[in-house]
Amino acid sequence: MRLDNKTVIITGAGSGIGRATALRFASEGAQLMLADWNESTGEETVRMIKESGQSAVFQHTDVTKPEEVEQLVNRTVQLYGKLDVMVNNAGVSQTENKISNVPIDEWNKVVDVCLDSVFLGMKYAIPEMIKNGGGSVINTASVAGIKGQKLVAAYTAAKSGVIAITKSTALEYGKQNIRVNAIAPGIIDTAIISGWRKADKWPILSTANALRRIGQPEEVANAILFLASDEASFITGTTMVVDGGTLLGK
Ligand SMILES: NC(=O)c1ccc[n+]([C@@H]2O[C@H](COP(=O)([O-])OP(=O)(O)OC[C@H]3O[C@@H](n4cnc5c(N)ncnc54)[C@H](O)[C@@H]3O)[C@@H](O)[C@H]2O)c1
Repeated sequence: MRLDNKTVIITGAGSGIGRATALRFASEGAQLMLADWNESTGEETVRMIKESGQSAVFQHTDVTKPEEVEQLVNRTVQLYGKLDVMVNNAGVSQTENKISNVPIDEWNKVVDVCLDSVFLGMKYAIPEMIKNGGGSVINTASVAGIKGQKLVAAYTAAKSGVIAITKSTALEYGKQNIRVNAIAPGIIDTAIISGWRKADKWPILSTANALRRIGQPEEVANAILFLASDEASFITGTTMVVDGGTLLGK
């Protein structure tokens, strides 16, 4: 199995891409620590994994709180003895608004959850990976952070920031055999896009790529799996786009 003996933390594992990644990683033999601020959905992911005959542990974590992220990493190492892979995936969407109408609280919250959390995840995970001789970090960005997107400036800024700190961190820790990559999904069928589904523009939005459909969380999970695995051993500092061709237009 592709993740045999690998200890993995996945944040935002209670839903969508994080849950699909947890299920996929479990089927590849990973030792899993799942984190989310939603206890019931996080525990539900653990139940789903147990139903399929594998195991995982859940730790309630708000990824914006340094002490909780540190505790998440510490508990993982206490339980499994090491940390090999960190998937910084938790994120929130932003209410659509022109920049002059964005409430300051909302700007701070979106940047906190989508960008600061990735900093915290790497800050606490990487020292443990170094002790173990190396590791792989996968940060969830977005195509919005590459191409820009109107009315969600906080989200696009945060996701561009994720791509930037992925590159900086890859350069800082390559010598210690730590690979740091990002993924940039296009529109994926999860709870985060539920608002868009109700919008008039949904028929256009949902087919605005080469494949003319939205993606499934499992399709992103497969990309994360590749980057986490030893198959990606010479890949670092990159952002893998998983968007059905959205960046090409149509
Ligand atoms: N679905 C898409 O179209 C899409 C596109 C590009 C990028 N993304 C990114 O993918 C990642 C996963 O999103 P998703 O689509 O699976 O959405 P989702 O809403 O289904 O899942 C997000 C998860 O993150 C958790 N979370 C949010 N804030 C948290 C916090 N402070 N602490 C801990 N957990 C927290 C939520 O509880 C939820 O379980 C996000 O970073 C998102 O920005 C999604």
